[in-house]
Amino acid sequence: MPSGTMFDPVSPAGKALSDFFWVVLAIGLGVVILVSVLTTYAAFKYRRRDNLKTEPRQISGNFRLEVLWTASPLVLLTILFIPTLLVMGATDPTPQDKDLQPDLEIIGHRWWWEFRYPKEGIVTANEMYLPVGKKLYTRFTGGDVIHDFWVPQLGRKMDTIPGHNNFLMLQSDRQGYFSGVCAEFCGAQHAWMLISVYVQPQQDYDTWIQKEKIPSPNAVPSDPILARGQQVFLNNTCVNCHAIAGTGANAQVAPSLSHFGGRKTLGAGIVENTPENLKKWIRNPWDIKESVNMPAYPQLSEDDLNALVAYLEALK
Ligand code: CUA
Repeated sequence: MPSGTMFDPVSPAGKALSDFFWVVLAIGLGVVILVSVLTTYAAFKYRRRDNLKTEPRQISGNFRLEVLWTASPLVLLTILFIPTLLVMGATDPTPQDKDLQPDLEIIGHRWWWEFRYPKEGIVTANEMYLPVGKKLYTRFTGGDVIHDFWVPQLGRKMDTIPGHNNFLMLQSDRQGYFSGVCAEFCGAQHAWMLISVYVQPQQDYDTWIQKEKIPSPNAVPSDPILARGQQVFLNNTCVNCHAIAGTGANAQVAPSLSHFGGRKTLGAGIVENTPENLKKWIRNPWDIKESVNMPAYPQLSEDDLNALVAYLEALK
């Protein structure tokens, strides 16, 4: 589900960018209108007339005009340069911020987002949470190719580049849901790297942190069906790529499933996270999202698959 556009910003950086857009647009429009009117006027006034038999007067150079059309763009660009500097200041972390440890790390993968909250030891995917009104110093990096994190209402885009760190302050002054996309072509499923941002009051955010910090109560279940699902997970190649806190499965190749049941979507937003969709996904992920790295599991028995789905959905 898409949220608002950059014209409805929710952060100081987003507001600075949005306001700047209107300033540039107004100046640009002014130039377009002025040039169009003058061109139309000149074309009309100096149009060819049949009674004109001689060539027009030949001229070369006009000092006043040349100064005018050199100086006016210079003045306009100088005027634009000032808000540009201010916007750069508003959208980049300040030098003091740069000494801080990141509160959040965002890693772009083909084709999903990894969100790490290093101070709390939380790793999750595709759906991130922010406390309303707080700045989170965020580090961006890439897992495979270059992706580009863009949640228009939060402000500027930021590339996630393998082997390189970029930094940004993420902040939202409004509660609610804000969505974003990958803005750098990164392969077949570039279009399906939905970013879901949930901005909550501090108290709710703290509750989310507390829940995510520890293994799901169902990670090691007592219910026999869920326990069977856990065994299916641990005895198959799922563990080569996925982590589930509390089970010993700690691979970090694919999205962490520690609290998978709490996620609203599957495959970075391509379908809703329902047991039916999850079942279809495990049977053959390419039926839902072609070209993803996860292999199909046609060999799982129906009962094993149902138990696995029940287990994963119970990880809240
Ligand atoms: Cu990731 Cu485009």
